[in-house]
Amino acid sequence: MTVRWGVAGPGPIAAKVLGDLIHVPDAELTAVGSRSARRAEAFAAAHAAATGRARTPRAHGSYRALLDDPEVDVVYLATPHPTHRALALAALGAGKAVLVEKSFTVTPAATREVVAAAGTAGRFAMEAMWTRFCPAVARLRELVADGAIGEVCTVTADLGVRHPVDPATQAYRPEDGDGLLFHMGVYPVSFAQMLLGTPEAVVAHGVVHESGVDVEESVLLRYPGGRSALLFASLRSPAPGEARVLGTGGWIQVPPRFHYPARIVLHRRGRDPETIDTPLIGAGYTHELAEVTDRIAGGHTESEIMPLADTVAVQDVLAEIADQLGMRVVEGPAELP
Ligand SMILES: NC(=O)c1ccc[n+]([C@@H]2O[C@H](COP(=O)([O-])OP(=O)(O)OC[C@H]3O[C@@H](n4cnc5c(N)ncnc54)[C@H](OP(=O)(O)O)[C@@H]3O)[C@@H](O)[C@H]2O)c1
Repeated sequence: MTVRWGVAGPGPIAAKVLGDLIHVPDAELTAVGSRSARRAEAFAAAHAAATGRARTPRAHGSYRALLDDPEVDVVYLATPHPTHRALALAALGAGKAVLVEKSFTVTPAATREVVAAAGTAGRFAMEAMWTRFCPAVARLRELVADGAIGEVCTVTADLGVRHPVDPATQAYRPEDGDGLLFHMGVYPVSFAQMLLGTPEAVVAHGVVHESGVDVEESVLLRYPGGRSALLFASLRSPAPGEARVLGTGGWIQVPPRFHYPARIVLHRRGRDPETIDTPLIGAGYTHELAEVTDRIAGGHTESEIMPLADTVAVQDVLAEIADQLGMRVVEGPAELP
């Protein structure tokens, strides 16, 4: 069975992610949806040329037309965060599976609404948290589960870019759900959630620019049993993007950039460090695309690697951070863009 993909939001990230479809057997991009027929056509032609596929995907000049296309099994939502809710609900209502870019939605209420809709529709839904599918992260989880570093006590992770906020450039649009937290802060939060679960308490310190864009976050999460996570994200500092999982018997380093690693280093107490190389296929999105394709072909409605309950837990933490920073967080309209 070939799983037929459609994309909503043919921007730069969609081009990068879907370029990796060429590495996934039994998957093809059959349709592109945009608010502009011209942009949809241009994306479809560029995708066919870049991937060498003989068949150019069909181009739709509206998101509604994409969702009504009977030759689409799963829609990849690569639009700005506040549009995810309406698009995901409409896609699921039209009987499609969805792969929703991170951050899944802007508010936890919307995330829960989409999760409930997926359950009602009986369709596959997943957050596109590609980090979890990187072979290095899969290996890290195996090592942790095997007790290679004893009991996990603490997770640390940082991720930064030097990207001064200039409202004139409109590079970040707070009214469109843009800013650090939903674009980048979600990575350290999701990484900690993957290893430690749901925190008992969140303490966040951060900087919000006068434009409304959040530019830095330092976050301390407390978990049952005295465990913790220490997380940092920034648009002010090109922080390396390293993560560490610290246990009672050693630690695992995820060298920069931890959100798409090709290597981990295992430090067992009293032993030499072991470097484990696990290359990415393509740009690194292949692994999540393969998971979605396989799960849909197998008739599943969720991924065990990125379950919806984890997405809900992550969104709850993001909301708490946003609240403590005094960010103005507004969910997008209920209507399709
Ligand atoms: N996984 C990764 O590595 C990665 C990297 C970057 C971003 N992302 C995620 O990808 C998503 C999109 O990122 P972005 O914010 O940078 O997107 P963007 O490039 O601003 O927009 C992507 C596309 O969405 C459509 N769009 C833009 N504004 C819209 C609106 N107000 N309503 C409806 N459609 C709109 C546009 O297509 P049309 O005008 O043709 O309809 C546009 O080309 C976010 O969830 C982001 O976090 C992921």
